[in-house]
Amino acid sequence: MNTTTNLQRRKLLKYAALGIAGAVTYPSWAQTGGFVSVNRPSDGFSADVEIELTMNTAEIAILTGQKTRVWKVTGKVNKGSPGVLDNNEGTYLAPTLRLKKGQKVRLILNNNLPAQSILHWHGMHVPSNMDGNPMYALDQGETYIYEFEILNRAGTYWYHAHTHSVTARQVYSGLAGLFIVSDDQEQALNLPEGDYDVPLVIQDRSFDSQNQLVYSAHMMQRMQGFLGEQIMVNGRPDKVLPVATRAYRFRLLNGSNSRIYKLAWNDGTPITVIGVDGGLLGSPEQHQYVMLSPGERLELWMDFSERTLGTELTLRSLQFDAASHRGGMGMMGGRGGMMGGGMMGGMMSVSALPSGSDYPVLKIRVDRKEENKHSLPKSLTPITALQIKNAANATQPKTIALSMQHMSALLNGRSYKMNDIQPDEIIPVNSLQLIEFDNGFGDGMHGMMNMPHPMHMHGEQFQIIKREVNSRSSDSYATVSSGFIQSGWKDTVLVMPGEKVTVLKPFNDFKGLFMYHCHNLEHEDMGMMRDFLVK
Ligand code: C2O
Ligand code: CU
Ligand code: CU
Repeated sequence: MNTTTNLQRRKLLKYAALGIAGAVTYPSWAQTGGFVSVNRPSDGFSADVEIELTMNTAEIAILTGQKTRVWKVTGKVNKGSPGVLDNNEGTYLAPTLRLKKGQKVRLILNNNLPAQSILHWHGMHVPSNMDGNPMYALDQGETYIYEFEILNRAGTYWYHAHTHSVTARQVYSGLAGLFIVSDDQEQALNLPEGDYDVPLVIQDRSFDSQNQLVYSAHMMQRMQGFLGEQIMVNGRPDKVLPVATRAYRFRLLNGSNSRIYKLAWNDGTPITVIGVDGGLLGSPEQHQYVMLSPGERLELWMDFSERTLGTELTLRSLQFDAASHRGGMGMMGGRGGMMGGGMMGGMMSVSALPSGSDYPVLKIRVDRKEENKHSLPKSLTPITALQIKNAANATQPKTIALSMQHMSALLNGRSYKMNDIQPDEIIPVNSLQLIEFDNGFGDGMHGMMNMPHPMHMHGEQFQIIKREVNSRSSDSYATVSSGFIQSGWKDTVLVMPGEKVTVLKPFNDFKGLFMYHCHNLEHEDMGMMRDFLVK
């Protein structure tokens, strides 16, 4: 099929999905600013909050000297308190949205980019046609109207571009931001708020000598995933965060395309985790280090009240083995990694900052005295454990085999295709499903291309039931294994080489297409993505 036919087919699918008869008949409901909406606000929906988001090209001062061309989302609040939106002015980050469970939200998305694009609300439990599936991609000048009620519990969710085969490049250019949800239960805990509740979006970027973003997606980088040379926090390089002598809530998002972090405080202070993807844990957990793969979030508690003024602390990413050894050679750098990059499948990695090496992420400086008003609650929010016996397929787990072969990234041997639902991808609505992600667990030995895959499923959050790893991979695995948080609600889980991770996921309320894919965005774009059809 040639490209034109593909495009026409996509349009047809798009309009069919929207319930619009012909691909040539544009609906007449027009937005302000000349955008043409491809769908209409629904009559029965009365929004508590209405935000208009516009995707545009922009130039932002990131480094000293020349400005950097990025793709920037800018928002305005049409209805609701101004506090629901922070445009993150002066950075490439998309606006931070702060919403409350139970609110009815209308998000009007205008595409003013010289390319197709669409946004997806990662981790949010929304109807299929509000989820930003790539089939809804907007052309320049088009608008999509999202309407949904916030059903999720309080948590640090996010949103990003989800455009067919160019998600990685679009997210890298700036199309990603936070979607923070609060609820009464969380608010009753009296956790640090305002200036003491700090979102930290961790990403990596490379710049050329003109300060422009470098993104290359040749085969090597696609197989490994793009690794930037510069760590960015909230869109800034070499970030230093000034703090006061009191307790903080840090909301970490790994918004990188493919980089996996193994985070620890440089002075050996344990990491106190209070939340993961789908909100607060039942109770806080302490770890020497925590793993954070692309798409995942972590909420940390850090108390600086005993620190003296001037103290500096660094959040580092520590060394780990990202893959099994083959002939004694780390596949992705790391241990004894070679200058300028590691090895993958016998080929040189191209990053100056290889995956699994040791480097600083964020520097913190205690610069003022303040009274501490918070102590870490012993218990946070209750979490009901899902039971295998309640799964519709309790004795027959749905297995999703992860593989990279012949220069392709596959799920159960399949590559992404729009409108290509296979029988094992059909899920009854309102069922609980037992799902296992198998990354060469049964192989005993990995192929050259066993890599870590952060697996994500759209729709409702899931729970991790167990992790199993084969003996061949156990040495590498030991460099990461105590950094996984098993409790709480998740929407993305890192599956290491030789590992099998079993989860329980509810598919309640909404019928339609819900994607599952690797959140290494280069893998996703290479086709490591599929749809479930819930019906
Ligand atoms: Cu964060 Cu399908 O995406
Ligand atoms: Cu998602
Ligand atoms: Cu992957």
